[in-house]
Amino acid sequence: QHALQIALDGPAGAGKSTVAKIVAEKLKLFYVDTGAMYRAIAYKVLKINAPIDDETRVSQIAKETEIVLDHSDKRIVWCDGEEVTEEIRSPDVSRAVSVVASYPGVRKRLLELQRLEANRGGVVMDGRDIGTYVLPEADFKFFLTATPEERAKRRWLELAKIGKEVPLQEVTQDMVERDRLDTEREVSPLKPAEDAIILDTTGIGIDELVTKILTLVQGG
Ligand code: C5P
Repeated sequence: QHALQIALDGPAGAGKSTVAKIVAEKLKLFYVDTGAMYRAIAYKVLKINAPIDDETRVSQIAKETEIVLDHSDKRIVWCDGEEVTEEIRSPDVSRAVSVVASYPGVRKRLLELQRLEANRGGVVMDGRDIGTYVLPEADFKFFLTATPEERAKRRWLELAKIGKEVPLQEVTQDMVERDRLDTEREVSPLKPAEDAIILDTTGIGIDELVTKILTLVQGG
């Protein structure tokens, strides 16, 4: 019997990571946050002051960077042995990440890591191209959406919770720009897989959303 694979894709702030964590816990699956991997690369590029527009250089950095995701409920992220769990959520990293993620060399390297993670056992993987590209054979593919206003507010709240006070307008602008880059890039852009179940999460609470997904997974 093969291990269960659940793909969760969608734009920023659609509720993917919150839902993915809970669903993974309930079903005893690994949770893999692929966005954290892209963020770790963007963090490294900024940290060493590499020119972000230099695709060759950034792709090389991606190849040489060691990224480790911890699977405990703390979800710690290491980049070359340094703990970067909080740092990768900074507005600077958020602004840089979609550029880094548009480079095929970077995606190729992280795809390898993501497939390795998936080989550890059953997974809930969240990202942008999981259902379309990383796990095309996933048992369940969900595409979460919500209005831009609601998504921006959620991001803003998330940041506030970890003590990062950024004006809502700034969060909104950054998010819209990031979604644009993610949707318009040539390699594995953000879009629902043909066989994805699309869930509009606007005005829907986490509990309700989790219940809906669990019902679909367990019923199917
Ligand atoms: O999920 P999160 O918002 O942390 O993702 C950060 C960025 O990483 C996305 O905006 C996107 O540019 C990139 N990403 C991606 N493919 C994935 C996951 C994330 O391109 N599977």
